[in-house]
Order: sequence, then C-alpha cells, then structure tokens
Amino acid sequence: MSYIVALSGGIASGKSTIAHLFAQLGVPIIDADIIARQVVEVGTPALEQITKHFSQEILLENGELDRGQLREIIFNNDHERLWLNNLLHPIIAQETQKQFAQQTNPYVIWVVPLLIENNLHQLADRVLMIDIPEALQLERLINRDRISESLAKKMIATQVCLTDRLAFADDIIVNDGDLESLKIQVDNLHKQYLHNLKVKNSYE
Ligand SMILES: Nc1ncnc2c1ncn2[C@@H]1O[C@H](COP(=O)(O)OP(=O)(O)OP(=O)(O)O)[C@@H](O)[C@H]1O
Ligand SMILES: [Mg+2]
Repeated sequence: MSYIVALSGGIASGKSTIAHLFAQLGVPIIDADIIARQVVEVGTPALEQITKHFSQEILLENGELDRGQLREIIFNNDHERLWLNNLLHPIIAQETQKQFAQQTNPYVIWVVPLLIENNLHQLADRVLMIDIPEALQLERLINRDRISESLAKKMIATQVCLTDRLAFADDIIVNDGDLESLKIQVDNLHKQYLHNLKVKNSYE
C-alpha cells in the first residue's frame, strides 16, 4: 500500500491546480469528490437507502440522484443532514481505503476538500495544506466561478478558517504567487516525499 498524502485547502485555494502538477510528475491522484459521487451511483446500496428514505422523488428522470434537491433538503434540515452523513461517511471511508489499498506507487496524493470538517485526516499518513491570503482566494473564486463578491465571501465563511486548517498541516504550500512558484514547491515536496520514504524503508 502507498504512503497517503492528503492535499487540502479552502475553496479555490488551488487544490486541483496543485494535484495536476503532482500528476505531471507521475504521482497518482485520488479525488475525494469523485469517490463521494461513485458511492451513490445508480445501483449502489447507498442510493437504494437514500431512495427508501426520501422516496423516488429524490431521483432524476434517468434514475440518478438529484444532488441539487438533496443539497437543498439537508441544507435546511439538520436531522436529514445527520441521517445522510451517518449513512455516507462509513461507506465513503471504506471505498477510500479500498482505493488506497489498490495503489502501488511509493506515494499518492489524496485530494480531499473537507479533510478537517469531516475528520478524515486519520486516514492519511501526511497532511499537505494550502496557505493562501484570503483576499487572493476571494479574487480567484470570483474570477473562476463568475459569482458576486458577497456570495464568494459567504462560501469562504462556511469553511474552517485558515489558521485552524494549518494547525493540521505537516507540510504547507503557499499559493500566493504564479504557477511557476507552485511548480517549484511541488517539485521540492515530491523530492522530499520520495526521500522520506527511502529513509523510512531502509529502517524497516
Ligand atoms: N498560482 C496560481 N496562479 C494563478 N492562478 C491560480 C493559481 N493557483 C490557482 N489558480 C487559479 O485559481 C482558481 C482556483 O484554483 P483551483 O481550481 O485549483 O482551486 P481548488 O482548491 O481546486 O478549488 P475547489 O475548492 O473549488 O475545488 C482557478 O481558476 C486556478 O486556475
Ligand atoms: Mg478543485
């Protein structure tokens, strides 16, 4: 099994951009958002439970989960949100472990936006956090999603704040420069991870 480096950071902090740079170095990427979608695909036990709980009305015409509707329900109802979390969290954790176990590369990058919020850091061997000044995060979020400043501020405010986030970090990438500066940081971390693993393995 590979060594698992969790890559996390606030919305629009640069997770996808940084994951892409690791991928260019040949590092496999596991994406928590993709796993969260896989476990409720048509035909899964989780989708069956959800349909039983909320009725067929929660499905789109093609039989897929109506995520927009579900989001609205749980956003407005703590009881339903808890019910859904209790159902999905163990299933997601199990699927994540399964995908980890299939890896053969020395290490993999696990992109997981809600690492701290969902208490998932125990699944990782190391945590790599993105540090970005809030003004720049706001600017990039507004430009990428073409949304208003007030909505972007609200989206950032619902997340764990940067100081709390960084308290969980083993390593930090500062994303306040250009892409070249990111690439240099990623190259250095890549070398560091491979070196750490070599040292670790030589003692085992
Ligand atoms: N160093 C950088 N220089 C310039 N633009 C950047 C840099 N890093 C990220 N961006 C841009 O900022 C935006 C947000 O980056 P990205 O999509 O990688 O963030 P994310 O953390 O994956 O966001 P989400 O939380 O929505 O998944 C994108 O438009 C990206 O191209
Ligand atoms: Mg992303």
